Amino acid sequence: MSEPVLATRGLSRSFTQGGETIAVLRGVDLAVQPGEIVALLGPSGSGKSTLLQAVGLLEGGFDGSIRIAGAEAAKLDAHGRTVVRRDSLGFVYQFHHLLPDFDARENVVLPQLILGATREAAEARAATLLTALGLGHRLSHRPSQLSGGEQQRVAVARALANRPALVLADEPTGNLDENTADRVLAEFLRLVREEGSAALVATHNERLAAKMDRVVRLHEGVLQ
Ligand SMILES: Nc1ncnc2c1ncn2[C@@H]1O[C@H](COP(=O)(O)OP(=O)(O)OP(=O)(O)O)[C@@H](O)[C@H]1O
Ligand SMILES: [Mg+2]
Repeated sequence: MSEPVLATRGLSRSFTQGGETIAVLRGVDLAVQPGEIVALLGPSGSGKSTLLQAVGLLEGGFDGSIRIAGAEAAKLDAHGRTVVRRDSLGFVYQFHHLLPDFDARENVVLPQLILGATREAAEARAATLLTALGLGHRLSHRPSQLSGGEQQRVAVARALANRPALVLADEPTGNLDENTADRVLAEFLRLVREEGSAALVATHNERLAAKMDRVVRLHEGVLQ
């Protein structure tokens, strides 16, 4: 089997609040293979976002090992973490965090320019991704001029723009109605598969999780 795109060993994270220490992650061992789409299930408060933030190298303060694309990432300094995030990871947040002053296409273009793409190539790829997500007619709309589902699809296109080895998605359809959530998720899964990326997708929706390749469950800080 090829090297996992993500492998955690003994990943642990505690928070101290009002003198009390809460162990949210207690030795999480998780491997995601290239191209594999894994649903991370668990009730509210079970630590899904905490786990995604740790493996996304967004927050320090954890113990254990995180290997991304074969290299140990847990102990990198801020610059090293930025490089791994930029080169290997894509993010879809529950609240999409699009740039409000830029239109849909520009939101997908900018991360590519940061990685050194030409404007021409970046615009072409942004248009391809957004069109594949059914937004070909909304390229020049700013986020405030898009529906919630459309904004979420722009966030999906942005996450895939740089062909990341691994997409991390935190409730990517959590604030959408059921029909829209199903449609956006189906488009997300299809595009991730077409692009050959792997994905780790936090949700508490069993029905949506069942559409992914594999389901892992967080229970009291340990993966089942
Ligand atoms: N910065 C923090 N300080 C203290 N406690 C925290 C902090 N961040 C998270 N927690 C606690 O860690 C636990 C897990 O939180 P987390 O956000 O990872 O849950 P989740 O599984 O993503 O839940 P949800 O499905 O509601 O998004 C919660 O009990 C939360 O209160
Ligand atoms: Mg969460």
